[in-house]
Amino acid sequence: MANVVIVGSQWGDEGKGKVVDIYTEYADQVVRFQGGNNAGHTLVVGNEKTVLHLIPSGILHKGKQCLIGNGVVLDPQVFLQEIENLKQKGYLQDDAQLVIDSNAHVIMPYHKAIDIAREQKSGARKIGTTGRGIGPTYEDKIGRRGIRIADLVNPESFACKVREFLPEKNFLLEKYLGGTPLDEAAILEEYNAYGRILAKYVGNTSLLVNQGIAAGNKVLFEGAQGCLLDIDHGTYPYVTSSSTVAGSASIGAGTGPRFLDQVIGISKAYITRVGEGPFPTELHGDMGQRLREAGNEFGSTTGRPRRCGWFDAVALRYAVRTSGMTGLAITKMDVLNDLATIKLCTAYDYQRQRLDEFPNDLEILKQCTPVYEEVDGWQSDLSEAKCYEDLPEKAKDYLRKLEEVTGCPVILISVGPRRDQTIQLENPFKD
Ligand code: IMP
Repeated sequence: MANVVIVGSQWGDEGKGKVVDIYTEYADQVVRFQGGNNAGHTLVVGNEKTVLHLIPSGILHKGKQCLIGNGVVLDPQVFLQEIENLKQKGYLQDDAQLVIDSNAHVIMPYHKAIDIAREQKSGARKIGTTGRGIGPTYEDKIGRRGIRIADLVNPESFACKVREFLPEKNFLLEKYLGGTPLDEAAILEEYNAYGRILAKYVGNTSLLVNQGIAAGNKVLFEGAQGCLLDIDHGTYPYVTSSSTVAGSASIGAGTGPRFLDQVIGISKAYITRVGEGPFPTELHGDMGQRLREAGNEFGSTTGRPRRCGWFDAVALRYAVRTSGMTGLAITKMDVLNDLATIKLCTAYDYQRQRLDEFPNDLEILKQCTPVYEEVDGWQSDLSEAKCYEDLPEKAKDYLRKLEEVTGCPVILISVGPRRDQTIQLENPFKD
């Protein structure tokens, strides 16, 4: 049975949520393996829009088990709010559908306060984080002073850890970052209440995934953010604090890499970025504005306008390489509907030298300018195309070009936010 990993192949916001929702139909279990509520996955079913930050995008399918793996960092307040919103809409009627791993780390109030205060203090050198406490939580995880879900649901252990860690956090917040110290009793009261409600969702997701695989289940591993935001392979330090490449699915879900059969990279037909950091194909003028408006490129987590640019095949090839992608899903093709010509970057120019590979060194990347190829636009509406044959020749040419410059086959095309605005060329779950 094929298991499939879905990852973003750009700087996030590629439309992973929609593709996960589509693919959930073929899967038995869906597992999120990294990141936290810095992600924002927008799903449109009928006329109803649902934005999820933490809960796997498969949750809109009744009977599919949705797991939040050990690699995720979880803000309990956001998690419970998300559950409430889903229930109000009639989803998640059976609580057993959702399980969070007891080894996942908890985003504490001091993580959020430190994230925001650090960004403020950094001034022009800020990362442009989502301010959700993601970085500080992963720092504490690696520093072995994190608080896990298992602690959250055990008031004694939780109180003991808060008492141990809070003085250092308050010292940092108050004395170095110029913030306000946090009150221990208030944290304990608030988080104990979360722990009590959340307890029924806690389990061992590694065990469930591996038992599922042994029983012949098909598992969909749902990534967040994108390969260029990966802590190792991304445009460091302008990255998120987790591993966003496909290999992370193994660690963050607690299963062996041999069970990851297919890796599907999600990519827009152009590219966007939120936050700071180099972006070789960024469009600053009217064209950038045009893409932002046509693609509604505003963050679903923070509402920030996204930086927009032409498709970057150098960056995409790098994502294909670091995640071992077996297929690409191209989203938001319809956003390019009106354009007479479309550019795509096939190489970089660095000090008059042609670079075909994405440079490791950020100082080099900062100085790279794109080498473009130009293709004709299709100048017609793709949003009602139901199959590949419905696409105009020039749209097919563009897709073929994307395959050629990335070296990866396109297996899905999205022409709008709805489920029925999806053209599937191959099913990655098929053996
Ligand atoms: P953090 O993940 O909040 O620490 O933010 C670090 C960087 O990752 C910033 O540039 C954010 O804008 C970016 N980022 C984090 N999550 C997402 C996402 O889901 N989509 C796009 N960018 C993201």
